[in-house]
Amino acid sequence: TARLTTRDLQHLKRQGEKIAMLTAYDHVMAGLLDDAGIEMILVGDSLGNVVLGHETTLPVTLEDMIRHAGAVYRGTHRALVTVDMPFGTAGDPETALRNAVQILQKTGCQAVKIEGGAAMAPTVARLVGQGIPVMGHIGLTPQAVHQLGGYYRHGKSGPAAQTLIDAALALQDAGAFAVVLEMLVPDLAGDITRLLDIPTIGIGSGSDCSGQVLVVNDLIGLNSGRVPSFVHPKADVAAVIRQAVGEYITEVKATQPAKAKGRAIA
Ligand code: KIV
Ligand code: NA
Repeated sequence: TARLTTRDLQHLKRQGEKIAMLTAYDHVMAGLLDDAGIEMILVGDSLGNVVLGHETTLPVTLEDMIRHAGAVYRGTHRALVTVDMPFGTAGDPETALRNAVQILQKTGCQAVKIEGGAAMAPTVARLVGQGIPVMGHIGLTPQAVHQLGGYYRHGKSGPAAQTLIDAALALQDAGAFAVVLEMLVPDLAGDITRLLDIPTIGIGSGSDCSGQVLVVNDLIGLNSGRVPSFVHPKADVAAVIRQAVGEYITEVKATQPAKAKGRAIA
């Protein structure tokens, strides 16, 4: 099967078929998601938290993203693979263009995602003008955590909701092929989804989006800490690993030294 494109996503939205997206950060996981039939994979800068053990996504670099995105891409043959532009790499349209070109050239991935509202529209338009598919990301934007002052739900007040609606429309007008809605009031996410022609991909924003995305480690129970309340884990892979490693340790320690054959040891 040929790889999915942004046009296929548009068809899915028109047909009312929901889009399933998950993050991946490495070759093996990406291959498993691809085999399972996931439509979109996000090489998220949640790499910083999930894989690299940082408190926030801010320490993640372009080089980190390129290394992991290449690994993910090489593990897939069907999914549309989108790569997060990490903190500070999309500060102005020309910088963003230079960095997005690096990502696409060095990884093979098809699209980039940029956090931010209406202020990012010129940057999105610049990349789209060069043929680079761009996904928007509004609401809770973790790269702005120090400005937001935490991780909480967005769009609760009328003016805040209107700002998010305007942001979604501005990103669509700039040519974004989809937009992530993170931690939006579910009714607002539904309103935005109905208002836009492009698909919305929700996370913690209710079920009225064109599709859903989750951090794969949260979905399969492969993490050290807590998972967000909107995640319903489908497996406990951490328990499987603990069990297997425990059995291995027991087995190694139970192994008897080989009996000396033939001549006796002095
Ligand atoms: O980095 C990430 O995982 C994301 C999400 C939308 C889940 O940006
Ligand atoms: Na991200």
